[in-house]
Amino acid sequence: MITLLFTSAVAGLLALTVYQTLADMHRGIITYLDCFLQQARTKPNKPFIIFEEQTLTYQDVERRSNQFANAFRTEGSLTKGDIVAQFMCNEPDFICVWFGLCKLGCEVAFLNVNIKTKSLLHCIRSCGARALLVGKELLKVVEEVLPDLMKDNVDVWVVDHTSPSEKVKSLLDKVEHMLGETLSERPKADIMSNFLFIFTSGTTGLSKAARVGHLKAIASMAFLPMCGATSDDIIYITLPLYHMSASLLGIGGCIHLGATCVLKKKFSASHFWKDCVKHNVTVVQYIGELCRYLLNHPLVPEERLHQVRLAAGSGLRSDIWKEFTNRFGGIKIREGYGLTEYCAITAVIVYMAFVGHVTNSQCLNVSFQLFMPFELLRYDPQTYKPIRTASGRCIRVQAGEAGILVAPLTAMNQFLGYAGDKVQSEKKLVRDVFKSGDVYFNTGDLLFLDDRGFLYFHDRIGDTFRWKGENVSTTEVAEVLGSLDFIKEANVYGVSVPGYEGRTGMAAIVLKHDSTLNGTKLFNHLVQTLPAYAWPRFIRIQTSLDVTETFKQQKVKLVQEGVNLSLIQDPLYFLDQSQKDYVFLTVSIHQGIMCGEISL
Ligand SMILES: *[C@@H]1O[C@H](CO)[C@@H](O)[C@H](O)[C@H]1NC(C)=O
Ligand SMILES: *[C@@H]1O[C@H](CO)[C@@H](O)[C@H](O)[C@H]1NC(C)=O
Ligand SMILES: *[C@@H]1O[C@H](CO)[C@@H](O)[C@H](O)[C@H]1NC(C)=O
Ligand SMILES: *[C@@H]1O[C@H](CO)[C@@H](O)[C@H](O)[C@H]1NC(C)=O
Ligand SMILES: *[C@@H]1O[C@H](CO)[C@@H](O)[C@H](O)[C@H]1NC(C)=O
Repeated sequence: MITLLFTSAVAGLLALTVYQTLADMHRGIITYLDCFLQQARTKPNKPFIIFEEQTLTYQDVERRSNQFANAFRTEGSLTKGDIVAQFMCNEPDFICVWFGLCKLGCEVAFLNVNIKTKSLLHCIRSCGARALLVGKELLKVVEEVLPDLMKDNVDVWVVDHTSPSEKVKSLLDKVEHMLGETLSERPKADIMSNFLFIFTSGTTGLSKAARVGHLKAIASMAFLPMCGATSDDIIYITLPLYHMSASLLGIGGCIHLGATCVLKKKFSASHFWKDCVKHNVTVVQYIGELCRYLLNHPLVPEERLHQVRLAAGSGLRSDIWKEFTNRFGGIKIREGYGLTEYCAITAVIVYMAFVGHVTNSQCLNVSFQLFMPFELLRYDPQTYKPIRTASGRCIRVQAGEAGILVAPLTAMNQFLGYAGDKVQSEKKLVRDVFKSGDVYFNTGDLLFLDDRGFLYFHDRIGDTFRWKGENVSTTEVAEVLGSLDFIKEANVYGVSVPGYEGRTGMAAIVLKHDSTLNGTKLFNHLVQTLPAYAWPRFIRIQTSLDVTETFKQQKVKLVQEGVNLSLIQDPLYFLDQSQKDYVFLTVSIHQGIMCGEISL
């Protein structure tokens, strides 16, 4: 279970940051772009982005994005309100292209650089893009769908000096001839409107284009300041820019502070600390399992020589929290809650950023309710829908009881929904909660309050499965497994077995180098730490665990493969309770389980 502490100091800081954001709005700095422009005016020569051997100041980015804006206007006749898909890897021009489009009032849709053919086409179509901007190393992927794009009248540009095809326009040769001066007439943005689109992967189906409003973007910029970063910090960003963690929280936070960021093409565990030393990095941004990769990497001298004082992000699991701070030396960890994909959907969650630091008590003080209203609703454990009374209203949970975290929608806490997908948007909302006509955003997280007013993270909907009438938290089991010395990482999920209600526990694990699975030790550890219903009945040994591009564990495929021997090549083990050991899952044991001769 992950729990966080929300100290009163942080509460004060949060109040201050919200206050500052509001004050900024009064001073006329109202959008993400406005905030950047102000920094470019006040500290033009301050380094903004360091990328490989390049350093761009705030002014450099300002001028180059003006050049892009002018090229898009004159060569592409793009204007306010046009939706433009951007398909690029991390590089400074990602930001210059993006800001150039913002300056024209276009809405940018960031595409995940890992998608291909059908999904790529789906994303471009679902957000209604008029044009597509492609980084040169991704052009190959786009070429496969070029005929479809031509049919849809999508203008395709490659961010390069030349283009291999007539169907694709080159951009950089045009940009060189453009003026870098401030654009004469820049369309005014409506603060309540949409800023950009970010695709959320979700667990199943095709990704959805979530609208990210201006309010939400500006609120995201407050995350790093809220964590205690300052304008003197050097911020290390290795996350993909198409994801909001990097673009809105990371780059946005850097802009808000007027700080410098070191941008990497992609995350690399072996370069991480070396880069931190080389660039005097003081703040690193993480997400999900990124920290675990660092822990799994062999020791390098730089990991103790750096000046990193703060790690800010979300999704760090509690089983590695201590190890992380112990090994890498006195780094303060600031974990924000709800800053991953669902946060791309709504402004509400950012203000809720349960920024906390971990202490022994590891709790989250809910005094932030002052800034961010929320409710915990009683839910049906089968459907994860709120339970309704006879009169159709939802029920608040009691102290100690887990509930679905929902937040009321207001003018300031917007939910702009997904592009072209009313049904999916509606699914994120709960209506008529306490009175007729009220609307709440469903975070999909289960939390509970204790009687002292502390709020705890219980689970993410979908991260629990039921077995023998009990709820099993996959996160909790994974953390228990992760604490064994021979297990490098574990991903826990529930699989269906014929003849049984619910799902039985299974864990995909990666063993540490030179280690073997010690079934007896594993069994003894489980007996000591978890109730019997939570023990994984099956273990699948993998050489590496699949993660999503945002470093979250991939479960869907594992669940689908279950214990199907015709689909799985990895060695499988079965918990034989009579032997108090995990035994190799042979075909005959498998058959025995499937026909019910061996009971679980
Ligand atoms: C939570 O924080 C508030 C204000 O910061 C403080 O007054 C209160 O005592 C805290 N609650 C607990 C249970 O520590
Ligand atoms: C890092 O800091 C050291 C000592 O303050 C300084 O000598 C060095 O030039 C800095 N390096 C960079 C890349 O800023
Ligand atoms: C499982 O979780 C649900 C929701 O919190 C709860 O209502 C139910 O009682 C739990 N079941 C058990 C056996 O704890
Ligand atoms: C497994 O772990 C136990 C301690 O729990 C130890 O006594 C035993 O030797 C280990 N077995 C192997 C094969 O390492
Ligand atoms: C196992 O996978 C194969 C191939 O996809 C499928 O035909 C079979 O029905 C699966 N078996 C079970 C028990 O799900």
